[in-house]
Amino acid sequence: MHIQELVKSSRSFRRFDERVEIPEKKQRKWLEALRYIPSARNLQPLRYVVVRSFEARERFFPLLGWAAYLKGKGTPQQGERPTLYVVIGYDTRLSPSLPAIDIGIAAQTLLLLARADGYGGCVIGSFDPEKIKNLLEVDDHFGVGLVVALGKPKEKIKIVPVTGSIEYYRDEKGTHYVPKRALSELWIKTL
Ligand SMILES: Cc1cc2nc3c(=O)[nH]c(=O)nc-3n(C[C@H](O)[C@H](O)[C@H](O)COP(=O)(O)O)c2cc1C
Repeated sequence: MHIQELVKSSRSFRRFDERVEIPEKKQRKWLEALRYIPSARNLQPLRYVVVRSFEARERFFPLLGWAAYLKGKGTPQQGERPTLYVVIGYDTRLSPSLPAIDIGIAAQTLLLLARADGYGGCVIGSFDPEKIKNLLEVDDHFGVGLVVALGKPKEKIKIVPVTGSIEYYRDEKGTHYVPKRALSELWIKTL
């Protein structure tokens, strides 16, 4: 698949087939690839914690906020929850302030790597970092950036043009619609 198609097919998936675990080999391959992403001043402050066991996942899941626009209806049900979480954190001794751009690059790269292998996921920024830190039992110098929730997607997602609202929505069959702005709105000019 060309990268153009990969980016398009890499939607924010929030419903998964929970019977399908992500092989540890794939997880290692994806994390290995994250060594090569760009980093401001080449500081490479990012650190990762993987939440993999069923028991840890069950404790981790309630800490995350899902699909705010769907007002509770977008939270994955039992059986359709992610099977792997990667917490993207950073070493606060290397980067005292949040290295937000590095974190964003890592999150999107991870989503694309997973998608290329037939999996998918969703970036989660809605959580209380202190609760995440407590559960992960990490050192004080671990700052929490983003969570990437991953699994085998089990939902239909369609991209639609923005007509009024940018809020995503679902129909009665559960298809998830994501309004995206037209290129003509995004691309201001070429000098
Ligand atoms: C920085 C960031 C934080 C996000 N946080 C959440 C979140 O907490 N919960 C959630 O369900 N989705 C979250 N998302 C996913 C967005 O809702 C999603 O990207 C958006 O609806 C567009 O859908 P798409 O990714 O399929 O294009 C986040 C995305 C980004 C980039």
